[in-house]
Amino acid sequence: MANERLDDLRARLREDALARGINPRDVDLLLADLLSLSLASLYARGEIEVDGTRVEAYLQRRYAGEPLQYIRGHTEFYSRDFLVDDRVLIPRPETELIVETAIERAPRGARVIDVGTGSGCIAISIECERTDLHVTGVDRSFDALLVAEKNRQRLDSRVSFAASDLFEGVGGMFDLIVSNPPYVPLGEYTQLATEVRVHEPRMALTPGPRGTETIERLLDQSHARLASDGLVIMEVGYGQEDAIREIAEAKRYAIEAFLPDLAGIPRVVVLSPHGW
Ligand SMILES: C[S@@+](CC[C@H](N)C(=O)[O-])C[C@H]1O[C@@H](n2cnc3c(N)ncnc32)[C@H](O)[C@@H]1O
Repeated sequence: MANERLDDLRARLREDALARGINPRDVDLLLADLLSLSLASLYARGEIEVDGTRVEAYLQRRYAGEPLQYIRGHTEFYSRDFLVDDRVLIPRPETELIVETAIERAPRGARVIDVGTGSGCIAISIECERTDLHVTGVDRSFDALLVAEKNRQRLDSRVSFAASDLFEGVGGMFDLIVSNPPYVPLGEYTQLATEVRVHEPRMALTPGPRGTETIERLLDQSHARLASDGLVIMEVGYGQEDAIREIAEAKRYAIEAFLPDLAGIPRVVVLSPHGW
């Protein structure tokens, strides 16, 4: 393909994207990545001549429904850049609330475990913000752990990762258990946008018909792994607040807080264990 002025190429591709119902900003982000330019430089350097072959190939994947983050191979979470591909869930902005809460609540030198770490975004963000903490990340998916380990190295973090079904593969006690578990009920999973259902790992999204299966097991196991005064900080799904309140009571946890995300949806629950 012949070279084309960047501003002409950009205008043509943005128009095409819009006509296909895709955000034209995706064109800019892909172009900026491919040309190793910041967005500001991309906008300022419209006169340079570029070959559009690769960006057009990326856009074909986008038009076929692949998430932008997987095509780019990275995404931002809590102001850091994380590698992502279809082995891990794409970190969501609302999950930053777990990081914020853990950073505020963790006592100095605390032992923290992130259960279902995926890309490692929660564990690594917490450890980078609070280097006094001892952070472990576990996941059942070996594939996800390979991505988490790459992120750990890139971001120069000291988190240790391990393969484990919840706590089964790790020993020790923790002052803070954080988790963004799979929580989508199976019936809702089948209705999710194709972009999510076809491309993101099923194990990261749904644990079964109720949606709360992993949460229930996590709370059962956490009693034996929480140090005194320990807390569980966990993300839950839209509309799950009542179910979580019932589960917490049945499993002997007090709800210290139910924190809303930016859309006002109760999103992160802070739990402390109690006896009968
Ligand atoms: C919703 S994703 C969260 C990923 C990442 N923490 C984030 O917030 O972007 C849930 C993660 O839990 C993992 N997972 C599911 N069941 C698990 C289990 N029983 N034990 C450990 N990890 C599990 C999945 O592989 C997936 O990586």
